[in-house]
Order: sequence, then structure tokens, then C-alpha cells
Amino acid sequence: MLAAYLLSVLYLALTSALASPAALPDSRSTPAIPPAGFARRNGATIYVDNTPYYFAGAQQYWLTSRATTDDVWRKTFDRYKELGVRVARVFVYGIDATAGPSPAVYHNWNGAKLSVNYGENGLGRIDKMLAMAKQYNMKLILVLADNWGAQSGSANTYVRNVIGAAGNYHSDFFTNAAVIKVYEQYIAAVVARYKASPEVFAWELMNEQQGDITSIDGRRARPGFTAAMMTKWIADRSKYIKSLDPWHLVSIGDSGYYNWPGNTRHTYDGKVQMDFDANLRIPTVDIGTFHLYEWFQPTKEWGLECIKAHVDNMKKIGKPVFCEEFGAAGGNNQTAIYPTWVKTMLDGGLAGIMPWQVSGVGIYKSASQKTFDDLDIYPEKTVVWSTLKNMAAVLNARK
Ligand SMILES: *[C@@H]1O[C@H](CO)[C@@H](O)[C@H](O)[C@H]1NC(C)=O
Repeated sequence: MLAAYLLSVLYLALTSALASPAALPDSRSTPAIPPAGFARRNGATIYVDNTPYYFAGAQQYWLTSRATTDDVWRKTFDRYKELGVRVARVFVYGIDATAGPSPAVYHNWNGAKLSVNYGENGLGRIDKMLAMAKQYNMKLILVLADNWGAQSGSANTYVRNVIGAAGNYHSDFFTNAAVIKVYEQYIAAVVARYKASPEVFAWELMNEQQGDITSIDGRRARPGFTAAMMTKWIADRSKYIKSLDPWHLVSIGDSGYYNWPGNTRHTYDGKVQMDFDANLRIPTVDIGTFHLYEWFQPTKEWGLECIKAHVDNMKKIGKPVFCEEFGAAGGNNQTAIYPTWVKTMLDGGLAGIMPWQVSGVGIYKSASQKTFDDLDIYPEKTVVWSTLKNMAAVLNARK
């Protein structure tokens, strides 16, 4: 009787383990070892194979979105190398810009139906980016959707195409089952194509997700949308990615906003339904990120406080945290602010630091403007450039 009972328990345990493709641990702060060359984490430290991996990063939305010549790709990677960058963050969607619509088309929309463009002007651009990353011994963060704008991979486009132009809200991207299904279909296609690649550093759910975006383009969160709903979306989508690919790191990609009761200041007041503390604790989330801008005119002190808050989270929760974007508009402001911010981030032990954005390689916003935006960094900004170059050298040497 007892033996039969024990056998049936064992049988149930075995069959449920076999039935579940996610028999691997949800959170890989465990000894689970991925394939050679993959980034993995143990606590707050990222490793590649058995070596701790700290990095200076870069991002070029215009490379996979707008670049048309091999020359620009090559010069960009040469510039990464010159600066000591070893992780680049890449948007797997085309961004429209002042210079016109993106020549890259990752999504083909037909009404509510989405098909993925595997062609040269679609995922072919990501193939190329990964091949170059391999040549330059770099890795890429692949970002799977955007919070902003009206381009093909943005939340608003998903919502409008799947639900319809009227009667919807920005935050429906995070709650509407039909929208989520289409977004997961896109995730599945991209993950299936690149899941064996050690050049993929991490999957990122979205660029800067938040519920309410009224300050940007007037589209609101649906009344009643809460930070807890956003946390659930992050938990469910990150778990979905782990079910497709148990090995690569998963990052949220948010700006790092807090939901601190009683705090009325932007960044901490919870008004965009993001809760950094809760989101970083999700078992299937490996990495926390924050973006430092404060509408491109930050004060040094605001940034220092925000950096310290995120370093505290990293230590308390025991997961890696990156400053994934930062920028102050104007060369003088950069010179005044970046050295102190960078020093504080290095002292805090952040896993990665990624300024927005390396530029000056022959692709510009317009013929008259020789940079891409006011945040651009290039060698002629000598103080900023040497600050970042020294930062990369420190990170690359860290063991
Ligand atoms: C530099 O920062 C100051 C103070 O935040 C701001 O008023 C100014 O417009 C900034 N400069 C540029 C070029 O954006």
C-alpha cells in the first residue's frame, strides 16, 4: 500500500518533469551551465564561461534601422573596438527618424496579422550584426519591441493593428490577450533563429516599457492599469522566453523607475506603473536596467542619487544591474556630468555601462547635422571620449 503510494508519487513527479519543457530552473543563479561562450549569471555577477564579464556597451539604433552601406557597419565596429566596447544593444525593429522611414522592415503587418521579414532588409540585418559581433569578439543585447513611436515594432502599432484604431490604450499592449499572442509570435521567431548564438548576450523584452506615456504622445494607460499588472506581464513574457531558450539571459529593458509609496518625485513616484524592486525579483528576469536622462537635461545630483538607488537594488536582490542608457544634451553638459557619473557607476560595481550613443561614422540625421542627436559621443568630444575609454579599460580588466 505504502509502496504503491510512493510509486504513484514517483510516477507523477516523473511524468510532470517530462511533460514540462521548463524542467530547468527558472532562475539561473544556480550551477546550471549553458553552452560554451554564453553569458550567464551567478548572483549579481555575469560570467562568460568561467570569467567574470563586465562591459562597456554601446547602442546604435541607426545601424540596424538605417545604415545602408558596409562601410558604415565596419566603421562603427572599428569605433567600438577603439573605445573598448564589448556589448552592443540592438533594436530588432526599424526606427523611423527625422531622416525618413527606416529602410529596415522587420514586421510585415496585414491587418491584425504579423509575419516576420527574414529578408536582407529584415532579420538579415540582425544576421549581419551577429556575424560582425563574432568577428569583433562582441555580444549583442537584442531588444524585441519598443514602448515608443509608431514604427512597426512599437507597442502602439501592435495595439492599433490587433485591437483597432479606436477604443484602445497604450497599456493594452501589456494586458490584451490577442496583442500578447502576436507579440509572443514575434518573440518566438526571433528567439528560434538566434537561440544557439553565443553572440546573443541577452534577450530584452522591450525598450523602456511603461503603462502611461502621456508625457510623450498623449496616449494613456487604461484607467485601472497598475504596476502589479506590468510586473505580471514581465513575469509571464520572461518565463515564455525561458521556455523557448533556457540559456540566454533575459532583461526587461526598462528605464528603472520606482514605485515608492509616498515619494512624489518623478523616477520614484510610480506614475508610469513601473516597479523596479518588484520586477528585478521575478525569477525569470536575470538583469535589471536603468536609463539616465531626465529629459536630456539631468543634474549631476539627480543622476548620482538614481545610480545609488540602483546599485542598492543590485546588492540587495543579488542580480546584475546595468546603466543601459545615459545622456545629457550638449557637449559641455556631458563634460560636466559624465566623469562623476561614470566614477560612481564603476565604484558601485555595475555589470555594464552603456552611454547613448557612439557616433560620427558617416551616417547622420540630416545632411546639415553632422551627428545623430545631441547626445552623440565621438572622439572630438575629448573629455567625454577619454572618460568612456578609461571606463571601458577598467571594466574589461575587472575579474
Ligand atoms: C545643459 O544643461 C542645462 C541645465 O540643465 C540646460 O539648461 C541646457 O539647455 C543644457 N544644454 C544643452 C545644449 O542642452
